[in-house]
Formats: sequence, structure tokens, C-alpha cells
Amino acid sequence: MSQPLLEVGGLTVDYIGDNADVRAVDDVTFSLQPGEFLGVVGESGCGKSTMLFAIAQLLSPPAELTAGTVLFRGTDLVRLGEGTLRSVRWRDFSVVMQSAMNALNPMKSIAAQFADTMRAHGMRNDDTVRDRSAEVLRLVGIDSVHLDSYPHQLSGGMRQRAMIAMALLFTPQLVIMDEPTSALDVVAQRSLMTQIKELQRELGFAVLFVTHDMSVVGRYSDRVMVMYAGQVAEIGSTDSVFGSPLHPYTRGLLDAFPSIRGPRRTLAGIPGSPPDLARPPSGCRFHPRCPAVMPRCSVDAPELFHIGDSDVRCLLYQQPLEDTA
Ligand SMILES: Nc1ncnc2c1ncn2[C@@H]1O[C@H](COP(=O)(O)OP(=O)(O)OP(=O)(O)O)[C@@H](O)[C@H]1O
Ligand code: SF4
Ligand SMILES: [Mg+2]
Repeated sequence: MSQPLLEVGGLTVDYIGDNADVRAVDDVTFSLQPGEFLGVVGESGCGKSTMLFAIAQLLSPPAELTAGTVLFRGTDLVRLGEGTLRSVRWRDFSVVMQSAMNALNPMKSIAAQFADTMRAHGMRNDDTVRDRSAEVLRLVGIDSVHLDSYPHQLSGGMRQRAMIAMALLFTPQLVIMDEPTSALDVVAQRSLMTQIKELQRELGFAVLFVTHDMSVVGRYSDRVMVMYAGQVAEIGSTDSVFGSPLHPYTRGLLDAFPSIRGPRRTLAGIPGSPPDLARPPSGCRFHPRCPAVMPRCSVDAPELFHIGDSDVRCLLYQQPLEDTA
């Protein structure tokens, strides 16, 4: 296996509060190979966006990265100064955030916004800037006449595509995307996802992709990370996680999606909602909702156990590990 493009180790983020701190990302470790597509899923509030912000070094108070490393091609982004980070961001890795549709400046044309980003990275030649802007816009299926459009003149889907085009201006090796299609209708979502996947194959960048939608992950990801209450609940290849999900939470998420297993229903297999991270449950954080709960689950906090090609945080899998130890 080649050298990982991204190695996240022990990443921990707290929201610092007056009364209590909230640990929104708790000791998250994973790696991403060049050109790989890793889907991150989990219910609302489980720390997906906070983790992406921490990886991109875009956290702002009250969020604080309290532990961990983010090695990008071997360099720890956590230790880089803001000046160096600014030159690495966009050029080597780029970010399309959850509210990307509204991230475009309404007062500037698409061309002007792309030009600002390129000039900030030292591209001064007007023709080069214009040509590259037209090229990335075409890559995402938008005619280059729209370079002179203002965001309000574009549909929601086009604005989203324009944000993705901007993320590709420098052909980065990693594109981090937080629900880039969630504001679109189902047809537009499918078409944009297909396009992201084609671009990825063509240009070879790796993708770290957050979504609520297991069916999107099942279709487009090489590997899947399931987050629960700020922690990795399960991580493995898409085939393993979908073919034989190990964590009861993963099973519940899969059962909620009709295209994968049976008729659509809400998270019927998972009663209740994720915990308040200011007061996470004792032991396994999933125990108050788990259909497979055992007496020790409220006492013992599970580690990640390596099973097959997956890692799973559940005491059901503790025994095999001890047997092989
Ligand atoms: N500004 C804040 N102050 C305090 N706590 C916060 C703040 N923003 C988020 N949190 C905490 O961090 C947790 C994770 O939030 P985050 O936005 O990362 O979740 P998410 O998985 O991206 O959710 P969604 O799917 O809704 O986008 C929340 O449950 C909340 O407890
Ligand atoms: S450790 Fe126990 S409560 Fe937690 S997921 Fe496994 S069986 Fe369920
Ligand atoms: Mg989010």
C-alpha cells in the first residue's frame, strides 16, 4: 500500500463552554490513500463537520483542537502557521463546506471570485486566470459564459457546482466535502454525485465526503466511516460495512435506507436520538439506544476492535480479539 495522503491521529476537538466543555470529536484516527473516496456518515450532531473543520485547520472559538495530529503528505497541519496553511489550502487540499451554496459572495461575479482565489496563490496573469476559471467551470458542466454571472443568476445546483469548480482550481490532491449535495433535489443530487465521482476518477484526487445518506456512501465510497457521538463507531471498506455491518448502530443506519435493505422507514431500529455531548452516556455511548445492549455496556467503554478489514467500537467483538492475543 502506498504512503497515505492523509493520516489523522487521535484527533480531539472540544467546544469550550462556560459551564462544561463539549467533546465533539473524540480521539478519531484514520487514514486516506491517494485517490481514495472515504464516506463519513452519522446522525446530526455526531461531529462530522467539526472533524472536517479540524482536519482543514478551520476551527474557530469556541472550538479548540485539544489533541491529535493531521499529517498531510507527512506534514502535520496542526503545527503549521496560518501563512503556510493558507498556501496549502486550496492548492494542495480544498474544502467544500456544508453551507457552500451560500459561501459565494453575492456581490461578485463567479470570475471575480475565482480570480481572487488564484491571485491569492500567486497566479497573476489575467489570461491564465480567465482560462483556468473557464476550464474548471466546464469540468463541472457549467458553460463558461457563466463566468460573468453573479451567484443569484445561477440555480442552486449551479452554485453548488461552481463551489466545487472553485475547489478544483489548483487540482488538489484532496477535496474535503461536507454534504455538498444536501440542498439539492434528488435528481440534481444524483447528477452532481456522478459528476464528482467522474472528476475524481479523471483527476485522481482523494475525497473525504460527509453525508447523512448511506445510499450515497454505498454507491460512491471506497471506504466508510460511521461516527457516533464524536467517535468512530465503525470503519472499513464499503463492501464490508454494507455486506456485513458489525456495529449495531451501522445496522440501524442501513436499515433506515430503502435502496439498501427493505422498505423505507425512519431509524425505527434505533429508538431515541444521539446523546448530548456535554454529558455522554457512561460505557458505550450507544448503550441507551442499542438493541444488542449487554449489562457491561453501560460500564465498559469499548475500544476499536479489528475484525476482518474493519474496525468496530463494540464490546460484542471484544472476545475474538482476546482469543487471538
Ligand atoms: N458552536 C458550538 N458550541 C458548542 N457546541 C457545539 C457548537 N457547534 C457544535 N457543537 C457541538 O458539536 C457537536 C457536533 O456538531 P457538528 O456540527 O460537528 O455535527 P454534524 O455531525 O456535522 O451534524 P450535522 O449532520 O447536523 O451537520 C454537536 O452535537 C454539538 O454538541
Ligand atoms: S458495546 Fe454494547 S451497547 Fe455498545 S454497540 Fe456494542 S452491544 Fe451495543
Ligand atoms: Mg455537519
